[in-house]
Amino acid sequence: MKILAIETSCDETGVAVLETTGEAENAEITVLGNALYSQAALHAEYGGVYPNLAKREHQANLPALTSAALKEAGLFKEGNGIEPIPETAFKNVRDPEFKAGITSFLESCEPPAIDLIAVTRGPGLEPALWTGINFAVALSKTWKIPIIGIDHMEGHAVSALLSPKDPEKTRFELINPALPMMALLISGGHTEFILMKDWFAYEHIGSTKDDAVGEAFDKVARLLGLQYPGGPKVAEFAARSRGRGENSVVFPRPMADDNTCDLSFSGLKTAVLYKLKKMPEISESDKEHIAEAFENAARDVLTLKAERALSANPSKSFVIAGGVSANEEIRRSLTEMAEREFPGLALYMPDSTLTGDNAVMIGAAAYLRAMRKQAEEEADLIEASGSKRIFD
Ligand code: KG4
Ligand code: ZN
Repeated sequence: MKILAIETSCDETGVAVLETTGEAENAEITVLGNALYSQAALHAEYGGVYPNLAKREHQANLPALTSAALKEAGLFKEGNGIEPIPETAFKNVRDPEFKAGITSFLESCEPPAIDLIAVTRGPGLEPALWTGINFAVALSKTWKIPIIGIDHMEGHAVSALLSPKDPEKTRFELINPALPMMALLISGGHTEFILMKDWFAYEHIGSTKDDAVGEAFDKVARLLGLQYPGGPKVAEFAARSRGRGENSVVFPRPMADDNTCDLSFSGLKTAVLYKLKKMPEISESDKEHIAEAFENAARDVLTLKAERALSANPSKSFVIAGGVSANEEIRRSLTEMAEREFPGLALYMPDSTLTGDNAVMIGAAAYLRAMRKQAEEEADLIEASGSKRIFD
């Protein structure tokens, strides 16, 4: 099966072509083509993602990235496209420039040998999401290829199940985890514990009451004068302080004593703000101490709540995924806790090439759904897109 996957929920435009083999229990995925464009540098000027800029960039880049991914996969055949392109293809495309871009792309090639189109249906920034969905629908209608909508956070969860089989990281085993599977999803928009008792049957165990942990990393970065996206920068500063081993700065562990699996990060960010306000001058090494103290607090509450979530909900597998799962200190602490407290629990985290937003994870989730006959129809896709969650 060949899948064309599209991800545009935030500030990465991702298009991937996957070839999948095997059954749901022992599937293998080969990335035939992968075109990922990060808009982060453009948004850095605004200190965060600017939704209309994201939409414009997705609109401008999707046709070229799709061509590139198909070419890399050897599936791009120059030709005259389909004449005429059905009007239904542009049902939701209002922007004339976007329509022109899609049209000239569709006219540039023959319908490719793709079996399924997968697209992120949400959650994410609405203008960004709809760009990808409308683009995917246009391709699906014109080429008469079935389409499936994938929840972005489900994509992140599946990213942890992709285990590289070659040094180039183009071939992956799609691990078949023992259920129930607990997932800790940590990104710029979400921080949540989700339990999968059966395939695609999710139970919401806990989540942040305010900011997502990635959002807190980004906000603290801004307070420290570090560039967006701040997560990796804060981690870098924290590592320098940790390496020196002396730091008197300590921040609170929000909601540590509360016996739910919910979390909170906005108080932590405020604590950083107050600390900075009290300092007349802030040196590089002060910044490093603050970054480390913040990272330690975030790490500790995530670890503590994960231990609670796993104790209250006996699990056979534990997935940690989302952009923040790139954080080494958080990985280390969660791994140590899982090995110490839950021997026998299988722990999965994404390969470093798949922690951030990408289309590979969306295609892989689509494959699992298609294999397990859980694909959604296009009508559902459109209706369910945007803010509606499958995890709630
Ligand atoms: O999953 P993701 O790429 O996009 C969303 O779905 O939100 O996550 C992005 C978030 C950002 O907040 C970014 O700062 C954070 O992940 N992040 C990190 C690290 N790398 C990315 N946070 C902490 N440490 C990192 N190394
Ligand atoms: Zn994400």
